Amino acid sequence: MLEVSTLRGGYREGVTVFDDISFSLSGGAIGFIGRNGAGKTCLAQTLSGGLRSTGGSVVLDGRDITSLSSRGKVRAGVSLVPEGRLVFGQLTVRENLVVAAHAAGRSNERIGQLEDQFPVLGRKRAKSAASLSGGEQQLLAIARALIQDPKVIVLDEPSLGLSPVAVDELTATLRTVVTETGQSMVLMEQNGELLTGLCDEVVLVEQGLAVRRLDMRNDEDQNALFESYLGV
Ligand SMILES: Nc1ncnc2c1ncn2[C@@H]1O[C@H](COP(=O)(O)OP(=O)(O)OP(=O)(O)O)[C@@H](O)[C@H]1O
Ligand SMILES: [Mg+2]
Repeated sequence: MLEVSTLRGGYREGVTVFDDISFSLSGGAIGFIGRNGAGKTCLAQTLSGGLRSTGGSVVLDGRDITSLSSRGKVRAGVSLVPEGRLVFGQLTVRENLVVAAHAAGRSNERIGQLEDQFPVLGRKRAKSAASLSGGEQQLLAIARALIQDPKVIVLDEPSLGLSPVAVDELTATLRTVVTETGQSMVLMEQNGELLTGLCDEVVLVEQGLAVRRLDMRNDEDQNALFESYLGV
C-alpha cells in the first residue's frame, strides 16, 4: 500500500511547485491530469526520488520512504518511466534491457520474461531503439522500469507524442500490467482517454494543487473529466 500525505515539492529551494497532494493506492491506478506546467513532472520526480520533498510523507507498505534517493526508492520498490521515455536510441532494444537489468542487479532471465510480456520487444530485440515507433519506445521504457518488479510504477506522460491508435494499445498494455501483476500505477497525463481506460480515480491538478477528485466508475465524473478539463 502506497500512502502519500500532504506532499509538497519544487525544483528549487523556496519555490513550491505542488502542495498538499494526498492519496493512497493498493494495486490499481491513479491519474493526475493537468496542463503544461501544472507540476506533474515535479510530482513524479518527487515520488520516485529525483527531487526531495519539502513537506509531507510517502509511506510504502508501512515504511517511510519520503527521504530516500532515487536509488533508495528503486530498491524500496518505486520505479519511474520518465517523461520523453529516455531510451538509448543508438543501442539495440536488447542492449537497453541489458543495461537496465545490470543496473538493477537482475539476470538476463528477467529480460526473457519481459520479452514474453511485451512480444514486440522480443521480435525487435536486435533493432536500434531509435528505429522503434513512439509507442514501441514507450513499451521499452516501461519494460525497463518493470525489470526489478516494482511495487509502484510512476509514469510521466506516457502518451506524449503517440497517435490515438498507439494510445489505445498503450492503455491496453498498462491495464494488463495493473490487473496481472497487482502493481500500483501512478500516471501523470494530459490525455483523458488513457486515464479513463485505466484509473479508478483521477485528480485534476491546477498549479500544483488538487482541485477536484474524480471517481472513474462514476459516469458523471467521467463526463466531468472531459467537459471541465479537455473542453470536449
Ligand atoms: N528544472 C526546472 N527548474 C525550475 N523550474 C522548473 C523546472 N522544470 C519546470 N519548472 C517549472 O515548474 C512548474 C511545473 O513544471 P512541471 O514540468 O513539473 O509541470 P508539468 O505538469 O510536468 O508540465 P508539462 O505538461 O509541460 O510536462 C512550471 O512552472 C515550470 O515552469
Ligand atoms: Mg511534465
